[in-house]
Amino acid sequence: MPSKTAKPAKRPAKTTARTAGKTATKTATRAATKTGKAPAKRPMRNRLNDLTGAQWLFQTNTLWETTYPQDATHALRKAHGAMKPPEAMRDLIEFFTKRGERVLDPFAGVGGTLLGAAMAGRQSVGIEVDPRWQKVFQTIQREFRIDETGTIVPAPGTERAAKAARRRKPSTTFPLPTGELRPIEGELLTGSCLHRMAELPDGSFHAVICDPPYGVDHGATGFSRETNFSMEPEVAGDFGAAPTFDAFYDLIAACGEEAYRLLAPKRYLVVLIGDRYRNGRFIPLGIRVADALERSGRFVLKGVRIWTNRTTLRPLRPYAIGSAFVPNITHQNVVILRRAD
Ligand SMILES: C[S@@+](CC[C@H](N)C(=O)[O-])C[C@H]1O[C@@H](n2cnc3c(N)ncnc32)[C@H](O)[C@@H]1O
Repeated sequence: MPSKTAKPAKRPAKTTARTAGKTATKTATRAATKTGKAPAKRPMRNRLNDLTGAQWLFQTNTLWETTYPQDATHALRKAHGAMKPPEAMRDLIEFFTKRGERVLDPFAGVGGTLLGAAMAGRQSVGIEVDPRWQKVFQTIQREFRIDETGTIVPAPGTERAAKAARRRKPSTTFPLPTGELRPIEGELLTGSCLHRMAELPDGSFHAVICDPPYGVDHGATGFSRETNFSMEPEVAGDFGAAPTFDAFYDLIAACGEEAYRLLAPKRYLVVLIGDRYRNGRFIPLGIRVADALERSGRFVLKGVRIWTNRTTLRPLRPYAIGSAFVPNITHQNVVILRRAD
């Protein structure tokens, strides 16, 4: 028999999917107050990537300064001259996709984006108009692997791996592998991106991340050297060989149309591009390219991050000192556009 002092049992509160979380949080907070421990946090709902809230916040800074050292594949990739550190591409890919998703780079060069995707455990396709660069990437695929820490290391059985093993300390050129190795996946197609993208199915990518030629007319003009690096196009169909800057923007807009078709809804097109200084005039190429890509209404410009990799910065050059302001362009733009629908 219940004693006279016993309180009547409370009717249990009705729990719905919406209140379940709140009740659990209140209970956890009360328990935590008693024990002095911080309450366990509910995992953040994240539709875009696998980052924590703090990692996400870090990537929203419009100033992006990195110190990526040369990686193990640098000696092969440097033949290109405008290649990007795979680590930078990995960081972008990790923000704009989840593990296992698919990334496209229509201006793949020697495969910086594809290597970044492999490090991050994403699938990738690249398109490159100059077949020389496809060969470099394929050599890297044969001679390197990704270890458990996501580092690119020489593949077992290669001369590079033998050198790495002979060294007492691992170096960036010959890192020693940790744990199980996996192959560098990713397919690099040759041909002009406008043709090759047309062959790919609608909505088949979760991000398009690329680094196109930095406009046209890379020949020296005015100053003997421009204030940004130069790259002479050598193959027909290269956007860098377009007759004028306006023709270049039109080609970029056409590539944007294809990127829109290939992207899943609301996903991102990210373009790395430097600004130029030519014939005594600054050309804000990042903004011009963003305008070209927004023209059709397919994409919305979400932001521009200013990127500089301190480890590969070249010394400032004394352009027109005492005469006129001429910038030393030491940054690149990361232009971030989102599919409008
Ligand atoms: C700035 S580089 C990209 C470098 C690349 N991110 C890497 O890490 O190696 C631009 C590349 O776009 C290529 N390209 C130019 N026009 C092209 C086109 N129509 N289709 C595909 N690739 C093109 C050039 O040959 C060049 O390799």
